[in-house]
Amino acid sequence: MSEPIPGLFTPITLGKRTLRNRIVFLPHATGQGVQGLPSEGHLAYFARRAEGGVGMIIQEATPVHQASLSRPTHVQGYDPRIIAPARKISDAVHKAGAVMLVQISHRGLAALPVFSRMPVWAPSPSRSPHTGEVAHALTVSEIREVVSGFVQTARNFMDGGYDGVEIHATHGHLLNSFLNPRLNWRSDAYGGSVENRMRLLIEVLEALRTLPLGILGIRLGQPAWNTGPEASDAATIIHALEPYVDYISVTGGTQATKHLNMGDMYSPPAYMLELARQVKRVTSRPVIAAGRLNEPLLAASIIENGSVDLVGLARALICDPDWARKVQRQATSEIRHCIACNTCVERAESGGPIGCIYNPRTGREGEIAARPTTTPATAGKRVLVVGGGPAGMQAALRAEELGLRVTLAEADPALGGQLALSASVPGREVFQRIADFLQEALAQSQVEVLLGKRLVPGAPEFSSYDGVIVATGAAPAPLPDSAATAIPRFRAEEILRNPSIAKGKRALVIIDDGMTSGPGAAELLAVRGVEVHVVLAGSDAGGALPITNRRMLMDRLLALPLRWHFHSTLLRVDKSGKATLNVRGAGEVKLDSAFDFVVQTVQRSANSDLIAALDSAGGTKFAAAGDCVAPRNIYNAIREGFDAADRLAAALGQT
Ligand SMILES: Cc1cc2nc3c(=O)[nH]c(=O)nc-3n(C[C@H](O)[C@H](O)[C@H](O)COP(=O)(O)O)c2cc1C
Ligand code: SF4
Repeated sequence: MSEPIPGLFTPITLGKRTLRNRIVFLPHATGQGVQGLPSEGHLAYFARRAEGGVGMIIQEATPVHQASLSRPTHVQGYDPRIIAPARKISDAVHKAGAVMLVQISHRGLAALPVFSRMPVWAPSPSRSPHTGEVAHALTVSEIREVVSGFVQTARNFMDGGYDGVEIHATHGHLLNSFLNPRLNWRSDAYGGSVENRMRLLIEVLEALRTLPLGILGIRLGQPAWNTGPEASDAATIIHALEPYVDYISVTGGTQATKHLNMGDMYSPPAYMLELARQVKRVTSRPVIAAGRLNEPLLAASIIENGSVDLVGLARALICDPDWARKVQRQATSEIRHCIACNTCVERAESGGPIGCIYNPRTGREGEIAARPTTTPATAGKRVLVVGGGPAGMQAALRAEELGLRVTLAEADPALGGQLALSASVPGREVFQRIADFLQEALAQSQVEVLLGKRLVPGAPEFSSYDGVIVATGAAPAPLPDSAATAIPRFRAEEILRNPSIAKGKRALVIIDDGMTSGPGAAELLAVRGVEVHVVLAGSDAGGALPITNRRMLMDRLLALPLRWHFHSTLLRVDKSGKATLNVRGAGEVKLDSAFDFVVQTVQRSANSDLIAALDSAGGTKFAAAGDCVAPRNIYNAIREGFDAADRLAAALGQT
């Protein structure tokens, strides 16, 4: 980058605190809570982002009441036992120059009784979109209990040294449902007119204003995407809460429409910016925007052109904690760019802790910092990494960090392995960024890279090294023999690599594995004018993807001119190209069209020969990582590559 980005690095005062810049680490589930308390994981995670230069950190939505719990890793904000661990976090964040807030919330309909052991709470007896259970409509005493919960939680964090709190009033949480007339049909003072529906929110804000908070902020959704407040109410609500708050953070979507809240790679950059702009037009309070704002020039421009006052980033800093510092020192080419794959969402919400598809440290900063690094026993030892896919590239980089002398041998003429295939799926080209990042890091390192170097088990080269990391990946299995299909068949991967290999006007694409190669092949063929019939085992493609991506992938496919056969499997295709399906509920169905070829997905099988050979020969210290252990995703490959280097270094240190 040639130009500095002044706008982003102009301090701003919110309430009683001044932030060093306009960059905010947005609230997001970290999956780090342990037994209801903030953990050492939180401490290391947030301290690392503060050291990376962010202006303000907002810890994730934290329950203010037992009925708000929906995860085993939730911090129980209402419990005074959180004060001591919170103090450690705020001290570390302050020491690194950032302001520390926590988002506090009652999840209402988004709570999960399996964790709260209570019915879900809502303004009226509506149905939970998550469990289907009908909610308990709050009594006025319980409403007071909720207000007290907000106050107790804010007080606990204040006593723990936090600078303030953000009220979560969107994403379908309780305060949001009170605002929403479709979920609030009470006939008392808390329902009906907009003044009544916002009464609880204002009571919470009034009560919080009795505390000496440094900053009191609020997160709101705009009317778009059903996230409330209603379009006609929005300005009234914003004006009513303005006297109480120091900033307004704007987002979209709900817990039930997460694909809008955490828009993935199929969502364009700045996809929610217009929502924030709408709020900015009607308020004098500083506004925080969110949603794929991680390209530095874009982030700077929305501050400089006055669209909003602060740039909110969640995933950009989950992926690269040093985003702010790198932008400030104009080293944007060093940024590990978030690709919006939402692996982090899946990790944090499935029992945590959070992780990132290609930052192997994310979510385990403390644990990794505590691992042994270079020792005199390992320094300078020679390591051979076999395989230049994501696992091998990451393993080589980490091994070098640990003081080892590393050679990386890749059989193909290029590095990247499965990343190239992932990036060849339409709409998922961003995967190339992972390959580019790792390759650039290798280019900057001392790692010796040998391309086109196939090392078979027993090759003499192995004897020149002190240890080996096996990262030989996996290969697509051949198509199984099929007497039932009498027309040409292709693997989805072959179509992704070269869609012109399949000749003909009409294709039958079988999608039955939840992955993206089948959908990708269908799209590539359709845009080339092939009439594509998709045979889908269920009703959705991409079942193995994070839930946010699944919905967006399916929306993308449904917008294409594809012919769908849901809940179907292929039984046979005769010589004339006529296909017979087994359709759930209907049995055998013969399609009218004649097909020219079939595209199928196949399982990948581990290239594990080298592991077996080293294991049985004995004598060589080695560690294995990624698909050669078991074919899985890039997240696993990169984590395991990193960890394999640590394991091997530890083993070499023992000799
Ligand atoms: C793993 C994860 C968990 C999230 N949890 C919360 C949350 O607790 N509260 C909230 O208001 N938003 C939450 N969000 C939404 C983010 O704050 C943010 O609005 C969204 O990710 C879009 O911004 P980004 O593109 O910078 O990631 C979460 C996002 C992620 C990725
Ligand atoms: S896991 Fe994916 S979406 Fe999440 S931070 Fe990393 S790159 Fe971004």
